Amino acid sequence: MGSSPNQKAMTGPGSPAGVPRHIAIIMDGNGRWAQSRGLPRIEGHRRGVEALRRTVDAAGKLGVQYLTVYSFSIENWRRPASEVSDLMGLIKFFMRRDLAELHRNGVRICIAGAPDEVPHDVGALLHEAQETTRNNKAMTLVIAFNYGARQEIVQATRRIAEAVAAGTMRPEDVTEASFAKRLYTADIPDPDLVIRTSGELRLSNFLLWQSAYAEFVFTDVLWPDFDRADLEAAIATFRQRERRYGGLSPVETPA
Ligand code: IPE
Ligand code: IPE
Ligand code: MG
Repeated sequence: MGSSPNQKAMTGPGSPAGVPRHIAIIMDGNGRWAQSRGLPRIEGHRRGVEALRRTVDAAGKLGVQYLTVYSFSIENWRRPASEVSDLMGLIKFFMRRDLAELHRNGVRICIAGAPDEVPHDVGALLHEAQETTRNNKAMTLVIAFNYGARQEIVQATRRIAEAVAAGTMRPEDVTEASFAKRLYTADIPDPDLVIRTSGELRLSNFLLWQSAYAEFVFTDVLWPDFDRADLEAAIATFRQRERRYGGLSPVETPA
């Protein structure tokens, strides 16, 4: 995981020119999409799954190498039990229906999130998806599920503290790189572009460490309406940004 500025690039090797190597999306607005149509919130979540499918497909075709999607936050457990249960049902539905096709298309699935509290059947499906697709090379889809960035940072810190206490790590071995290796996203490059839909202008505990130098694009489009044109528009906005990483001139290629 490249966490120092000179390891980063505007776009990574292997991505077409101007296409971010890693796009992370906060898929928001399902409930409002449904409510504005007089439909139950679950209908918005269902349509959100279709938007996810479209987006994975579009990102792959555009040459994005890593796509991270925020699908369930640790804080989402605060929702009514019926909605949580609907969301658990939908992640299972997505995995059962789409895993074979994602695998055929060479998509590698990685799960980022706390394994505890996840219902056993959901955890088993997520594990199976990771195992089945682990050697795929076309694109990596990181599913942030039961994810919270602060919790992720705390568990990394705890693992380091344990290693230091056990004598297998010295305090001077604690570096940006060794820390990043203990995050759920170990081996995934930092996101170049973070998109949030639905007009909300906040991170909601998403990728706090990894987004240190990401570019942000906020759109009013509600997630169930998000499509390839919206993704291309976000990429076009990204292309106009100058990434300087604290220096004075734009950094476009890896050091
Ligand atoms: C995003 O849509 C999906 C999840 C957070 C799981 P929301 O359910 O947050 O939709 P709004 O924000 O209430 O419209
Ligand atoms: C963030 O959306 C989490 C996901 C998209 C999974 P929320 O809708 O939960 O965020 P807040 O509560 O509005 O900050
Ligand atoms: Mg929301």
